[in-house]
Amino acid sequence: MERPVNILGFAGSLRKDSYNRSLLRAALELVPKNARLEIFDLEGIPLFNQDLENQPSEKVKKFKAKIRAADAILIATPEYNYSVPGVLKNAIDCASRPYGDNAFEHKPVAIMGASIGMMGTARAQYHLRQCFVFLSCFALNHPEVMVPFAQEKIDKDGKVTDQKTRQLIRELLENLVAWTKRLKQE
Ligand SMILES: Cc1cc2nc3c(=O)[nH]c(=O)nc-3n(C[C@H](O)[C@H](O)[C@H](O)COP(=O)(O)O)c2cc1C
Repeated sequence: MERPVNILGFAGSLRKDSYNRSLLRAALELVPKNARLEIFDLEGIPLFNQDLENQPSEKVKKFKAKIRAADAILIATPEYNYSVPGVLKNAIDCASRPYGDNAFEHKPVAIMGASIGMMGTARAQYHLRQCFVFLSCFALNHPEVMVPFAQEKIDKDGKVTDQKTRQLIRELLENLVAWTKRLKQE
């Protein structure tokens, strides 16, 4: 694969000062030369209603089209109540339906997450990995980018200042690009 690897990134938080949105902004700075990263905002994705799954909203149509056009996916997830936030799970549910039209099928996916707690979204990330089994995604295993005590690593302007965290994000992106190329080999 000679052209740049196109990565679509999104965060499972709608909060303006979200630490997870900050991780994505850092990823924009750290993306390898042989890749491009585009950020998609989940704001405006309606709550999934299976009665309406054959008439998706314009926002859901756009989301699915962006996922399909991407070579790989990067997700920044918060942890809510020891699991995946509803905003993110709902967006994934919307993009996976109707049955047989799962936009995530066979996509390489990398996960990262920041929380103010000591587990750094570990529990949410493992729940997310479980969803990717059903969705037939190829989740990248390493490095695990779990950022605990995010308030100490991201400044008030939303910049990831912690060098170890920046290095982990860089490695995650490098591994995602290599993983994507490997999966694309005929
Ligand atoms: C509904 C809710 C549940 C939360 N549950 C957890 C949790 O289970 N584990 C954790 O580490 N932090 C939890 N938090 C705190 C989040 O880590 C914190 O709000 C974080 O800033 C969310 O990510 P964001 O900055 O990207 O919005 C919770 C926050 C909310 C609002």
